[in-house]
Amino acid sequence: MKTIRKAVFPVAGLGTRFLPATKANPKEMLPIVDKPLIQYAAEEAVEAGIDTLIFIIGRNKRSIADHFDKAFELEYELEAKNKEKLLALARDVLPPHVNCIYIRQAEALGLGHAVLCSAAAVGDEPFAVILADDLVKTHGANCMQQMVNIYDEYHGSVLGTETIDIKDSSKYGMVAGPKIFDGLSEVQQIVEKPQPSVAPSNQAVIGRYILTPRIFDKLRTTGRGAGGEIQLTDGIAALCKEEKVYAYSFKGHRYDCGSKLGYLQATVDFALEHPEVKTEFAEYLKTLRLK
Ligand code: G1P
Repeated sequence: MKTIRKAVFPVAGLGTRFLPATKANPKEMLPIVDKPLIQYAAEEAVEAGIDTLIFIIGRNKRSIADHFDKAFELEYELEAKNKEKLLALARDVLPPHVNCIYIRQAEALGLGHAVLCSAAAVGDEPFAVILADDLVKTHGANCMQQMVNIYDEYHGSVLGTETIDIKDSSKYGMVAGPKIFDGLSEVQQIVEKPQPSVAPSNQAVIGRYILTPRIFDKLRTTGRGAGGEIQLTDGIAALCKEEKVYAYSFKGHRYDCGSKLGYLQATVDFALEHPEVKTEFAEYLKTLRLK
């Protein structure tokens, strides 16, 4: 069985929930403390053994390519000033064995369409999809590593899922199906953003997927769904009629960094673990509680 070597990062969304910050910059470049969301996502993929990162970019997305590219002038300046630590931060954004591919999605036709744009670059092998605005903190194996482990054992598509409050079902792809063991089930139903009254369960798909290449055939014939967009969820609904698709309840905590509240929560939690600021920041938070 082929292992997972490639990850697709759809980054062509308009990021309207973060305007005006996202007017000229993609939301995936918003930093949590000092690292942009897209770098957390790329590091998660690389730690999971992935060596080819495929970015589906749109308008205003040059900064993502610039971020993973060599910053010649910056490196030159830092080197001249002997700022070795900073130089390493600027230079070692990705390990040397990792390749980046950038594909332009001309129109924002939805997540399913973005994934379909990667078909030629992915080819005939299973691959990961990571939505960088879902930031996942774990102890031990990261979220994608956990999912690769499931893939290695079950050899089918794997969706990262979590239990949500059913009142929020209209924000997510929602799945249901028979349980294999606590934390893993087979997907028999998947619906994009259903109202709570028609949601098949309280299991929501988060921005982590491992998909077999057959998803591309399904996406080619997937019409516009929820919100008038070509939905990845609808492609997966077609896929799970022909192949096994698993819902894996990852171990860890997800921050919805596409929302202001989730973004702020991630910022606070990551700052409280950041070696440079954690002590002073914790002190500062204590003073706030007194107010
Ligand atoms: C997308 C998917 C949805 C999934 C969610 C996870 O929605 O369409 O199925 O549950 O990501 O974050 P979006 O958040 O882009 O609207």
